This record gives sequence, structure tokens and C-alpha cells, in this order.
Amino acid sequence: MALVPETVGKLMRLGLDVSVESGAGDTAYFSDDDYADAGAQVMPDAATGLAGADVVASVRPLDPGYADLLAAGAVTVSFLQPAADAETIAVVAERGATALSFDLLPRISRAQSMDALTSQALVTGYRASLVAAALAPKFFPLFMTAAGTIPPAKVLVLGAGVAGLQAIATAKRLGALVSAYDVRAASADEVKSMGATFITLELEALEAGGGYAREMTEDRAARQRELLTPYVAASDVLITTAALPGRQAPLLVTADMVAQMAPGSVVVDLAAETGGNVEGVEAGATQDRAGVRVWGAKDAASAMPVHASKLFAMNVVALLGLVAAEGELVLDPADEIIDGCAVVLNGEIRKEAR
Ligand SMILES: NC(=O)c1ccc[n+]([C@@H]2O[C@H](COP(=O)([O-])OP(=O)(O)OC[C@H]3O[C@@H](n4cnc5c(N)ncnc54)[C@H](O)[C@@H]3O)[C@@H](O)[C@H]2O)c1
Repeated sequence: MALVPETVGKLMRLGLDVSVESGAGDTAYFSDDDYADAGAQVMPDAATGLAGADVVASVRPLDPGYADLLAAGAVTVSFLQPAADAETIAVVAERGATALSFDLLPRISRAQSMDALTSQALVTGYRASLVAAALAPKFFPLFMTAAGTIPPAKVLVLGAGVAGLQAIATAKRLGALVSAYDVRAASADEVKSMGATFITLELEALEAGGGYAREMTEDRAARQRELLTPYVAASDVLITTAALPGRQAPLLVTADMVAQMAPGSVVVDLAAETGGNVEGVEAGATQDRAGVRVWGAKDAASAMPVHASKLFAMNVVALLGLVAAEGELVLDPADEIIDGCAVVLNGEIRKEAR
């Protein structure tokens, strides 16, 4: 949900009147009454609310049919990708409206409070380790009992960005022995600061600026897979989180590498929806590959809707704090944040699909 009862008052203090679609908060355990008590007007359906709105906040982009109800000059804020959401973008432009996307928000200090990719990656990274621990037929922590000692599970995390670091922190809290790899050199210190071991491979780092990784050549990708094979084979749990902004996820682990893991091992692929880091993974399904369970994430943050929504709603408030002052909308394309995230600005499409 893009609005939680707690953020209604914060939006009102920006000079905005707040309305919410009836039932929109149900699956995140926020009722219409909760929103009404917080000061929001509950609309019978989305179309009624959309018709008169100056600002529309949602998690997913509006369907083209809903976008067609936008008033000229209205502003939408959501996750929105130029390539995947071209139809909605065209309609927003036709309406003379604006579409701001959390997917394209610059990763700069000033935008941290608005950074919904980070807040949702925190949710999914945390969940990845919990899913792995629940699927594993083994303990995560070391147990020293009168009957003997159980060694800790060995967890390997590939991709140590926001989600990966949170997966590491959660697996550590559960007592596992954690190691991790990332193509960005800067991630080594971050991994070590979480008490995990950073795996150094004899490969060049792939840094692209803005904290992001660069795409691998096929040669480097093959070499990386070869070098990682023994680490994957020796793991009880493999969690993959590697991503490239706006692109297919890189293939880090082949089916053959999974086949070398011991029966009873677990693989959690957070990148399953964008092609997967693990060959053959299915988003939203758990496969059994000769005793190795391979879990593909689908809409992973939605399984923790209370805090995923709370964090996202606070990101929405922060972004609206930039564009709405005392009830007036001000969209300054000279501002690095607006320049970065405005896919459509007052009817003009500014970001083309790559
Ligand atoms: N406001 C800020 O300053 C800010 C906010 C968020 C993130 N960041 C920086 O950006 C970094 C990455 O952000 P993210 O988590 O959204 O990234 P992301 O979701 O795009 O990618 C996840 C991770 O996958 C890694 N990766 C990509 N290709 C890989 C490969 N072939 N093998 C192994 N790993 C691979 C990336 O390096 C990244 O760490 C963060 O760790 C942080 O340093 C900065």
C-alpha cells in the first residue's frame, strides 16, 4: 500500500487532502475505518478518487484505463519502468500529466528517505533468509548439546547490495556461517562489517557509478560461474540477489552448479521475476531438484505487507514533500531528483525504454 493510516496526517501537513480507495489497505491489515480515523476520505472505488486527484500514489503503475482518468497537471508516483509500462506512460503523456517513478530515483544522499527500491529490498532480503531457514531441513545455528554438536549452516549470498546485505544480517542473526560475493569492490567492506566472509575471485570488479554494477561479458560471466562452483557446492543454503537496473538479472548459477549441491540444500533466488540468477528458476514456485529445493521469489515484499507498506508509504511522503509545498505542486526539472525520476513531465515523455 502506498498509504498507511500513520502517513495520512503527514500528507495533510503538506497541505494535501487525502483520499483512499475503499478496501485498498485490507491485505496489509489496514481497514477503511483506520484510514477514516486518521483523516482520509474513503472513496467507494479507485475511479471516483482518481477523477479529481492532483496526486495519485500507488505501488504498481496505474493501468492505462485508470491513467486515462487523470486530470491535466496531475502527478502519479509509483514503481514504473519505461520498457515494461510503455502503454501507461503514453496515456499519462496524452493526459498532460506527470509520472514519477521510484525505479529511476537517483541513489543520492538527499533522496535516501524517498528510496523505495532500498526500503523494499530491505524487506525482501530479510524475507529471503527466513524462507531459506524455513525450507532447510537443518538448523541455521550451532548447537552444542549433551547428545553432541550440530555445526552451523553454511549460507552463501551472491549479490551484496541492499537485499543481499539484509539477507546476510538475518542469516547471521539466525546463527549461520555466512559468506558472500558481489562484483562491486565496495561491497567487500560492507559484507565484512556484517560479520560475513567476502569471497574474493580473481576477476576484475564491475562498478558502474551510482552504487550499481555493470553488465558482465559472457566470458567473464562463464569464468565467474566456474570460480563460484566449489563455493556453491559447499553451501547448505544459497541466496541470490544480483540485479542490474532496468535489465534482465545476470545468470550466476547454472543447473549443473545446483546439481552439485548436497541433497537437503536450499536455493532462494530473489531475482526470479527478472529472469533469475539461477538457471531454470520459476518465480512463485518451489522446485525439487534431486533433493535441492529451489525457491523463486515473486512479489516477495508483499508477503510482509505491514512493514513493506509502512516503509513505502514513508518514501511516498518524502517524495511528495519535495513536489508539494503548502498544497501547491512544484515540479522542477532542474532538481536532480525530479530530473532522474520524472518519466513523464507535464505530458512530455522524458525517459525512453532501453
Ligand atoms: N542513497 C544511496 O546512496 C544508496 C541507496 C541505495 C543503494 N546504494 C548503493 O547501491 C548499491 C546497490 O544497490 P542495490 O542493492 O539496489 O543494487 P541492485 O538491486 O541493482 O543489485 C543487487 C546487487 O547485485 C550485484 N550484482 C550485479 N551483477 C552481479 C553479478 N554478476 N555477480 C554478483 N553480484 C552482482 C550488484 O553489485 C548489487 O550489489 C548498494 O549496496 C549501495 O552501495 C546507495
